[in-house]
Amino acid sequence: MKKFMIWAFVAILSGVGVLCACTLSSTAAEIELPAPRTGGGMSLMEALSRRKSTRTFDAEKRLSNQQLADLLWAACGYNREDKLTIPTARNMQEISLYVIMPEGAYFYDNKNNKLVLVTDEDIRQHSGTQEFAQKAPLNIAIVSDKEKMPNDIFAGTDAGAVMQNIYLWCAANEVGTVTRGMFDGEALSKALKLKETERIILVQTVGY
Ligand SMILES: Cc1cc2nc3c(=O)[nH]c(=O)nc-3n(C[C@H](O)[C@H](O)[C@H](O)COP(=O)(O)O)c2cc1C
Repeated sequence: MKKFMIWAFVAILSGVGVLCACTLSSTAAEIELPAPRTGGGMSLMEALSRRKSTRTFDAEKRLSNQQLADLLWAACGYNREDKLTIPTARNMQEISLYVIMPEGAYFYDNKNNKLVLVTDEDIRQHSGTQEFAQKAPLNIAIVSDKEKMPNDIFAGTDAGAVMQNIYLWCAANEVGTVTRGMFDGEALSKALKLKETERIILVQTVGY
């Protein structure tokens, strides 16, 4: 009887432990990305000939962390000690990327090749007015900081360079994508906790 009571006590305690673990958020505060693979791959001319927009996405099939690291580096990573894969007017480097996934949204810290949690809420309903964008497992918000780049035209051109890098990486890796201007900027800026001076130029859906 005594043995049974001890076992019952242990079982209840472990049950409580499992319950606590389940109710705690499983979203990591930081995700260290693997080093991006910067060599090899499809030729530029072939990627250009395959570049296109896609508007149907598998809600479940996800990119691996390696693919995400490669994609984000291609989009706006450092390819020299202090310069990026995109050109920016006066080298202001005013563009930031935010990665929106079902488990939350992250800031892409391109200097340190990691993702930093912004919110552990699923904010995909704000990532676009088109239904596929709200269900896709990955959207990338391309954000420009007015404090660094007050010129709207240059903010647009620099964001456009990120957009095309994402398109080309996706074409070269047989991943679908579409860039979008159709999103509720106010709601998404709030959900991403952006500064007053930051504005979202485009949101790009990526997936299979
Ligand atoms: C600045 C910009 C904004 C866009 N916004 C949207 C959008 O909100 N929704 C969408 O489905 N496609 C959007 N697109 C994608 C275009 O519709 C698409 O590039 C165009 O139809 C040509 O098709 P392609 O990319 O397959 O060549 C946008 C493209 C650009 C460059």
